[in-house]
Amino acid sequence: MSFQMAPSILSADFAHLARDIAAAEAGGADLIHVDVMDGHFVPNITIGPPVVKALKRVATRPLDVHLMVQDPDAYLNAFAAAGADMLSVHVEVLPHLHRTLEAIRALGVKAGVVLNPSTPVSMLEEVASEVDHVLLMSVNPGFGGQKFIPSTLDKIRRTRALLDRLGSRAPIEVDGGIDASNIAAVVSAGAQIIVAGQSVFGGGHPAAAIAALRAAAR
Ligand code: DX5
Ligand code: ZN
Repeated sequence: MSFQMAPSILSADFAHLARDIAAAEAGGADLIHVDVMDGHFVPNITIGPPVVKALKRVATRPLDVHLMVQDPDAYLNAFAAAGADMLSVHVEVLPHLHRTLEAIRALGVKAGVVLNPSTPVSMLEEVASEVDHVLLMSVNPGFGGQKFIPSTLDKIRRTRALLDRLGSRAPIEVDGGIDASNIAAVVSAGAQIIVAGQSVFGGGHPAAAIAALRAAAR
C-alpha cells in the first residue's frame, strides 16, 4: 500500500529547522507537517505565520499546516500568504465549518478537517465533498512524543468507509504516536498520509528514520 510521509517538525531542532527539513526531504519526506498551537485550543504554543513563511523559503515539499488554534478563521489568510499548501482545521472549534472550508479553498489551499480522538466520524457527513483530506488525531493534540491511541485503527476504517459511501476520495492522514511498531497497522487500516514527529526527528537521523518507517510499513 502506498502512502505519503509527512514528518512533523514539532520534534525537529527549532534552532536548525532548515537543516532538519533538508534531511527529512533527502530521506523521502513527501510533505512537511507544521504544527501551529495557540495556547488556547491546546496547552502549548508553537509557531505562527512568520515561521511558516521562513520554512517556505527552504522547503521543497508542500507545507501541511495543522492549525490547533481556537479561532482558525482569523488566520487563514495569513497562513495562506505565508505559503501553506494544505490547511487542516479542527471541527471542534468551528460552528461554520462549511464556510471555513470554502474560505480555505478560495485561497487556493487544500482544505482538511481534523477530528480529535473523542470526536465522532459522523462529523464528516455534511462536509465530505468540501474536504481535500481528513486528518485523524491518534493522540490528544498539544505535544509530540505521545502514545498512539489503539482505537484509532478502527476509526480509520470507519472514516474510509464513510468517505467511500459519500463518494469522496479524500486521503486520510493520521497524526500522533506513529512509529515502527504501529505504522504497518495504520497504513493497512487505510491511512494514506502518515505524520511522524518523534519517530523521525527524535533520534537525530531523520533520513534514516524515514527509511526505517517505510521499511516497517511493508
Ligand atoms: C500533536 C501534533 C503532532 C505531533 C506528532 O499535537 O499534532 O503532529 O507533532 O508527533 P509524534 O509523532 O511525536 O506523536
Ligand atoms: Zn499535527
